[in-house]
Amino acid sequence: MKTIKIGLLGLGNIGTGTYKTLEMNRDEIESTLNSKVEIVKILERDTERDRGIAVPKEKFTSDPDEIFKDPEIDIVIELLGGIEPATSFILKAMENGKHVVTANKAAIAANYHKLMETAQANNVLFRFEASVGGGIPILGTLTGPLRANKFEEVLGILNGTTNYILTMMTKEGVDYDTALKDAQAQGFAEADPTADVEGIDAANKLTILMALMFDKYVAPEDIPTTGITQITKEKIEEARANNCKIKLIAHAKKLENGEIEYEVRPMHISETHPLANINKEFNAVFVKGNAVDDLMFYGKGAGPLPTGSAVLGDVIDIAKTIL
Ligand code: HSE
Repeated sequence: MKTIKIGLLGLGNIGTGTYKTLEMNRDEIESTLNSKVEIVKILERDTERDRGIAVPKEKFTSDPDEIFKDPEIDIVIELLGGIEPATSFILKAMENGKHVVTANKAAIAANYHKLMETAQANNVLFRFEASVGGGIPILGTLTGPLRANKFEEVLGILNGTTNYILTMMTKEGVDYDTALKDAQAQGFAEADPTADVEGIDAANKLTILMALMFDKYVAPEDIPTTGITQITKEKIEEARANNCKIKLIAHAKKLENGEIEYEVRPMHISETHPLANINKEFNAVFVKGNAVDDLMFYGKGAGPLPTGSAVLGDVIDIAKTIL
């Protein structure tokens, strides 16, 4: 029986979630593929941290070339986060003939064309379902079952950390700093949560959605973006008095003249609107297609296991193609 061999870059929150998901569901995954699946090498400096799972020490390496140059490795999973060195590592993996799976929205949003072109030039598969909406299978759905549509609009709660903070402030009366610390402790927030609270993470995800839905690349720094740092208890109360909740919304719409307008900002959402009831780390994506009309996708948009689920879904998809 063949073994799909994987090199994993990064054993942080999401790397650990992916490793755990594979251990937890190994039987189902391997019987789906009729093949064994093994993470054979892990690029990670911190070999001592208690991650709640037993990872054999001999899997760890501090030299990425041990993964890129290993002829036995079929797939590289990049879960380092951040634009660099992640982008360079993804490119190097592709140039060495490895298929790549990543959850790294910052790297994809910053280098979308370069990554796509390099994958194509090297005849390797590149999948990034986990980069938008965590466990929600939104990208594969847009590019799969929905591809017969012309897309008209997307409206999403795309950042679990800020949605968690806003929910805790609105429903539990918890203050901003406590809610942020809680989100960090649960593994939702980025290593530097500035990207979450300033709306940058949501803008990265909107860049990816627009590229796939409208075939239009807009760099995240060109998306008008406002985060949630100025949201006070008073503003939440003000919204409540108007029967609204404040949600950080990423929005893009195709206009009649073919242009696309886009923004990320906190918006007042009527309490009767389904988006108002998306709480904690959950994400939701509304999509309007000209044939299918309105759709809404909902699920855990952050966290180690939901994100690990999406990462491994991509691994299975690639494995099915190459086996
Ligand atoms: N920091 C991100 C969030 C992780 O809170 O949504 C998932 O992309």
